[in-house]
Amino acid sequence: MLIAANWKMFKGPRETVDFLGRFRAPDGIDVAICPPFASLQAAADAGATVYAQNVHWEPEGAYTGEVSAAMLRELGVAGAVVGHSERRRLFGETDEGVARRARAAIEAGLGVIACVGETIEQRESGDMELILKIQVEALAFAVGAHERLVVAYEPVWAIGTGRTATPEQAAAAHAFIKRLLDVPVLYGGSVKPDNAEELLGQSDVDGALVGGASLEVESFTAICQAAASLS
Ligand code: PGA
Repeated sequence: MLIAANWKMFKGPRETVDFLGRFRAPDGIDVAICPPFASLQAAADAGATVYAQNVHWEPEGAYTGEVSAAMLRELGVAGAVVGHSERRRLFGETDEGVARRARAAIEAGLGVIACVGETIEQRESGDMELILKIQVEALAFAVGAHERLVVAYEPVWAIGTGRTATPEQAAAAHAFIKRLLDVPVLYGGSVKPDNAEELLGQSDVDGALVGGASLEVESFTAICQAAASLS
């Protein structure tokens, strides 16, 4: 079971070191910390398994604001998140670009957490499976079922809203994704200490990508403990 902390644009190096000095991962699960780029080095030096929140597909070049997989490896970073819905929605990332980012990261030896998920409009108009299929097949085509690839199912309507998928909705979406691409699938979207055990206990739920509740040591530890109790 993998529990990943997506810190988004929170925690500079000082707060990162403070958090990791107080956090102990329970035995029996894998934990990945995904801090902002500016805090990657501090997190790696503190001994955490560290994932970046994005990675570019080229090894170097005129791509202002981007970071390559080789640069991340040089920092001791283990992997990268790609295709988070905030990147897709706010920064115009496409399925094709996300797939290229995933492939470059895998080829450079990084692990990848590739995010997919439908909006509320897409779910309500009956297009959830179509959207997931388009997003997952781009990854399947570019990378395939690689041992370092993990998918995160994050229904956009559940991110930061306090609204989670029901355990049944999560289980159904995860099973659908795995039929398209046979890799572990994390659930993300308002995972909290009080719903973690039920969500993580569903079949085909192989871990969680946690945003808001990963920012405090206490709540993130409680989620990790719920995962450890199930593994
Ligand atoms: P949330 O974020 O847990 O705050 O909903 C999850 C994510 O965006 O990865």
